Amino acid sequence: MSLMSSPRITPAWLPQRPPEPDVRAGPGHVRHKAGVALLTRVLARPDLAEQRIGAGLRADRRLGSKDRPWVADALYGIVRRWRLIETLLTQCGWQGERPPEVLWWGWMVLARGLPAEHCPVPKSWLSGCAKPLEALEPWARGASDAATLATVGSVPDWLAEGLLEDRDLPTAMAELVAQDRRAPVVLRVAAHRTDRAAVLRELDAAGIEATPGRWSPHAVRIAGRVHLQGLACWRAGHVALQDEASQVVASLVAPQRDHRVVDACAGAGGKALALAATAPPGVRILALDVREGALAEARRRARREGRRLETQPISPTGPLPRRCLGADRVLIDAPCTGSGTLRRHAGLRWRWTAAQAQGLPDRQAEILGRFAATLGPAGRLVYATCSLWRAENQGVVDRFLAAHTDWEQIRPAPPESSHWDQALDAKGALELTPARHDTDGFFGAVLRRRRTV
Ligand SMILES: C[S@@+](CC[C@H](N)C(=O)[O-])C[C@H]1O[C@@H](n2cnc3c(N)ncnc32)[C@H](O)[C@@H]1O
Repeated sequence: MSLMSSPRITPAWLPQRPPEPDVRAGPGHVRHKAGVALLTRVLARPDLAEQRIGAGLRADRRLGSKDRPWVADALYGIVRRWRLIETLLTQCGWQGERPPEVLWWGWMVLARGLPAEHCPVPKSWLSGCAKPLEALEPWARGASDAATLATVGSVPDWLAEGLLEDRDLPTAMAELVAQDRRAPVVLRVAAHRTDRAAVLRELDAAGIEATPGRWSPHAVRIAGRVHLQGLACWRAGHVALQDEASQVVASLVAPQRDHRVVDACAGAGGKALALAATAPPGVRILALDVREGALAEARRRARREGRRLETQPISPTGPLPRRCLGADRVLIDAPCTGSGTLRRHAGLRWRWTAAQAQGLPDRQAEILGRFAATLGPAGRLVYATCSLWRAENQGVVDRFLAAHTDWEQIRPAPPESSHWDQALDAKGALELTPARHDTDGFFGAVLRRRRTV
């Protein structure tokens, strides 16, 4: 049976090739030399891929302005798919260590369509990269769904298993493929200073192709790259970088006039500032985090948007400061695997060991329990992650509700002109995903104490 007719692996799961092979850079070209050299450093710490690729390309004086994006694109491709390349090479007789040049040329054949004879490694090793569906066929016959996802999608085993907890293989694979594409630049318009139409007009006048976001009324999507510092709206602090899903999660908090809001895991303040920009009069936001450095960055960003942000560093255990108690709204944007943000952070998939990842749901449950106890009687709590893994999402919420029977999960209502109610599931949880909504992957659940009659 030819794999072309197999339901298991389809061409859409593989890196897409350009219509013509890119043979302009011959095998001795500086792009390949620089790419292989940098790949050695990147593979030593793939979780730091962004930093290492950025710094390495800037430092390599041999490369020109057109070479750098070309090499970067190949390196990111390999970081995203090295398990697939390695399997294709192994299927064709390659054994042994993982010398970066073999992976590099494997990628050139697999994703750039280079003829194997163009490459300075044995042609036989590269034949699987030239015809990946055929090469994978014998391997795939004996592979489980989790092994297929981990290999073809090139993620750690724990993540493949996690993604398959509440999805079938094609759906899980679609989420990984959607994260192979470069994420769009998304701006959040600071609604207290200007409106989206004005920002879109400014971008249009500057010849920048931009469209309104679909899910957040304050989102602007920019096609392609943009030099942000060159934009007047950026310099004036009228826009900030923030994915649409993150904007939507902030809007789940929905404070009312004079409410006290605690952002329990505020980090560098992305959601706290989104909240502040649209909050009704009198709302006070207290941003907490275990990292003072992140809170300092949050304050800096707040100043950029013409705001002051109240912050307080906290310890991960022990009593919370008194001013956290009795809040009307608590947002827990919990530390998580970040598996919904792989399109922005290619190396993130390699950051967590299986044991670390599997420990995260307990840590999240602990943070949820700790902050639920601080909420005022009529308050609401929003639990959120940027993960696609059920165990970190509804799994944590279900455990909390089972242990706190006086709490319930409610179905939030979107503000006017937002359409994210389409992304609510039967329990009322928000799930935006790269494949279904073309956003970062985010989960959000709204909880409150049951009303007694
Ligand atoms: C997903 S990030 C927050 C992102 C941020 N809310 C934003 O929108 O930009 C999670 C944050 O939780 C913080 N964190 C980790 N453990 C914590 C704990 N026990 N209590 C509070 N914050 C914690 C981390 O330092 C990190 O900044």
